[in-house]
Amino acid sequence: MQNRIMITGAGSGLGREIALRWAREGWRLALADVSDAGLRETLELVRAAGGSGFVQRCDVRDYSQLTALAQACEEQFGGIDVIVNNAGVASGGFFAELSLEDWDWQIAVNLMGVVKGCKAFLPLLERSKGRIINIASMAALMQGPGMSNYNVAKAGVLALSESLLVELRQLEVGVHVVCPSFFQTNLLDSFRGPNPAMKAQVGKLLEGSPITAADIADYIHAQVDAGEFLILPHEAGRDAWRLKCEAPQVLYDEMAAMAVKMRAKARSGH
Ligand SMILES: NC(=O)c1ccc[n+]([C@@H]2O[C@H](COP(=O)([O-])OP(=O)(O)OC[C@H]3O[C@@H](n4cnc5c(N)ncnc54)[C@H](O)[C@@H]3O)[C@@H](O)[C@H]2O)c1
Repeated sequence: MQNRIMITGAGSGLGREIALRWAREGWRLALADVSDAGLRETLELVRAAGGSGFVQRCDVRDYSQLTALAQACEEQFGGIDVIVNNAGVASGGFFAELSLEDWDWQIAVNLMGVVKGCKAFLPLLERSKGRIINIASMAALMQGPGMSNYNVAKAGVLALSESLLVELRQLEVGVHVVCPSFFQTNLLDSFRGPNPAMKAQVGKLLEGSPITAADIADYIHAQVDAGEFLILPHEAGRDAWRLKCEAPQVLYDEMAAMAVKMRAKARSGH
């Protein structure tokens, strides 16, 4: 029976809600984050929800911390059945203004953090015939303006997931990738970018979501159970993706119009 799950970025937002969703099924959880306080809170909630497990501080940029986490899962649980590469940070800014350091930081956390998580845990997953759940974003599918480094990192997570889907089928390791639109979490706390007005714009987008992080965790749980690879929790996201597949130029034109509006707003500081 599979009942051991590891989640990165489990100290807040979606990672915490995923932890609680699986905890309610009585799973054992390895919870990782750079925030010790967040991890402690999540573990308390997990226990109250019927789960058990341990927390470990882990920065997904550092491969040795991920292999140490895999080792801890080996020691505490005798292996792992599901890993969720969820840790991520927000960024924004038009391409001309983003520094190369902004790019390095975004790619290091949001893309290479997922690559390293998959690599560190693959030997354990091969043994358990487990599964990988990577948290990307709708930004992987629809490249909105003012966030090229985030778009590229998340598109990379999608490409990695597709690559693993086909490579690992023979080993019976399952792969899923989740592409949510904006939803309210603490993601804005990690925002980095050259223009503070852009941060406020992202904040408004997060507030506008019709569904919560808990709804998304529920949806992921159901879709993983159903064996779905590409998981799109927002209805509007599913519609937009369908439209892009049918008529990509319409989407590019919409995004270009949005870029004009965003630039005007960023200039006026609203
Ligand atoms: N909130 C949204 O609108 C939204 C939309 C699409 C995708 N996502 C993705 O969902 C995932 C979860 O984000 P969230 O919205 O719950 O944000 P959040 O900020 O509430 O949670 C992210 C967690 O990741 C942790 N983290 C950040 N950098 C880390 C690192 N280097 N190593 C380990 N942990 C680290 C943070 O401490 C935090 O606890 C991210 O990958 C994000 O890109 C979020």
